[in-house]
Amino acid sequence: MSIIKELTKDVKDIVRNAGYEIDTVVLESSNRPDLGQFQINNAMTLARTYHKNPRDIATDIVKELEKDNRFTNLNIAGPGFINITLTNDYLIECLNTLTNNLDNIIDKKDKKKVIIDYGGANVSKALHVGHLRSANIGEALKRLAKTLGYEVLGDAHLGDYGRPLGLVIREIKEMYPDLDYFNENYIGDYNDIDLPITNEDLERIYPIASSNAKENEEYLEEARIITNKLQNKEKGYYELWKKIIEISKEDIKKTYDDINTFFEIWNGESDEAEYINEVTKIFKEKNLLVESEGAKIVEVKKEEDNAPMPPLMFENSNNTYTYATTDLATILDRKKNYNPDEIWYVTDDRQSLHFEQVFRAARLANLVDNNVILEHIPYGTMNGKDGKPFKTRDGGVMSLKELIKLVNTETDKRINNNTISEEERKKISKTVAIAAIKYADLVPYRKTDYIFEIDKFSEIEGKTGPYLLYSTIRMKSLLDRAKDLPKNKITKFKTSTEIDLALQILNLPVVLDKSLELKSLNEITDYLYKLTSLYNKFYSENKILTEEDKELQESWLTLTSIVYSINNLLLDILSIKVPEKM
Ligand code: ARG
Repeated sequence: MSIIKELTKDVKDIVRNAGYEIDTVVLESSNRPDLGQFQINNAMTLARTYHKNPRDIATDIVKELEKDNRFTNLNIAGPGFINITLTNDYLIECLNTLTNNLDNIIDKKDKKKVIIDYGGANVSKALHVGHLRSANIGEALKRLAKTLGYEVLGDAHLGDYGRPLGLVIREIKEMYPDLDYFNENYIGDYNDIDLPITNEDLERIYPIASSNAKENEEYLEEARIITNKLQNKEKGYYELWKKIIEISKEDIKKTYDDINTFFEIWNGESDEAEYINEVTKIFKEKNLLVESEGAKIVEVKKEEDNAPMPPLMFENSNNTYTYATTDLATILDRKKNYNPDEIWYVTDDRQSLHFEQVFRAARLANLVDNNVILEHIPYGTMNGKDGKPFKTRDGGVMSLKELIKLVNTETDKRINNNTISEEERKKISKTVAIAAIKYADLVPYRKTDYIFEIDKFSEIEGKTGPYLLYSTIRMKSLLDRAKDLPKNKITKFKTSTEIDLALQILNLPVVLDKSLELKSLNEITDYLYKLTSLYNKFYSENKILTEEDKELQESWLTLTSIVYSINNLLLDILSIKVPEKM
């Protein structure tokens, strides 16, 4: 158990010894540090239960607290707020349990298996900033949950199956009508066909096909038929589809790699097709499918609904399965092959209705046990300076690659280090750009929309990724320079900054818990910034390497190594890489 939790438990026992029963004690960080580091507010509630004056209750509790040598400067403020401070000796003892081992500060949870669905990139379309948010939030949540003891698997769940692929193939047919993929009489090996198309071509083809379909009903109908054909694995079309997936997937993997996003499972929507028949059977048997204008729907409305809840479209009137059916099939697949306790879906807020419908339908059909949690984890939009979804200069959708390039141009201006080669400098500036993007994306509370300010987020000063990298590297370099000096023990503090740092360090488990509870990383990005800024204050106040008091010097180096390992732990949770130099 973490120190802070143990302490809370002990304080509860102390309150009981003073003669009062309470459910929980919260050691809140005080906003009046001159009065105490923490505040306990329970006397006010206890006063109501015990029909006593809260100040008298506070006095009883303080009397008990005074017997414990971990506490000092106990005092009562206002109607009965108890202010409490930890002794330096106790803080030092706590910190010393953390040298070389942060496990003592991490509260592991009960084991649980979670699948996180946070990819969703669409084959043959460029990844855009929306996919960036899924990737950043999902990857970090996955790492956080793992750190806290869950078993977690990330699934890419690529969009590789629906109408977009039919459209792309329709357009390829327009461009290269003579390709043997379209030749019904072709008897050769499909691997021998030379497809003159690169991933860049694919990214250009989709928007063309999509706008053609909007203007031309016949074209759209052909694309629909093609979609059907490839879903029925009709030779030619199916083979071409496989080829397209191959080309596109390679590029998608590389882009995810670039943003430090790594899936354990690389399924696509097409892999779920084999579960559709079974899902359909289950829904039929349970009489959940309703005929409606040639389509099949599932009623998911409930008595208590205040907002409209349209039925889930299970099968279109032209016999194609929908995005929702695929998600139902995926739930069945996950249940059969992984049997998870929870499934989390990290997508844009605009998909909330879709997931509500899917979850309700899954429950109606009992696709998973009742105690399995299905949770949509929505996020807000990344906007441009105009407050509208981030666009390119000419108003187009901003691809992820373009965004990375833009930020990289900014970080490139800021990384000047003449001790390294130009090649190395370029590599570092790319790593810093990714850090800038990822950190900025995780700073706002998950559900809020935010404005992406490229220049500000690339600065080395302020609440930015580059600032955190720079500071962390500086800690490392100090520790390297002090490699022959001992750093195993803290024996003393010199100033209040060290005490502030110690308190901040002890608060880490609270932050991790809260972040997982809210499924938002802003708690962690905030904490990292506060801890790092405090450390930098401490760093500028002291000359660590030339300090003559050897005990103080060891204490400082030890403190540095603890902060350094926390920074590494947290940056790793956020999936931000720290370069050696910068
Ligand atoms: N491919 C989808 C999109 O780009 C996102 C998929 C999200 N995951 C899911 N299981 N539906 O909008």
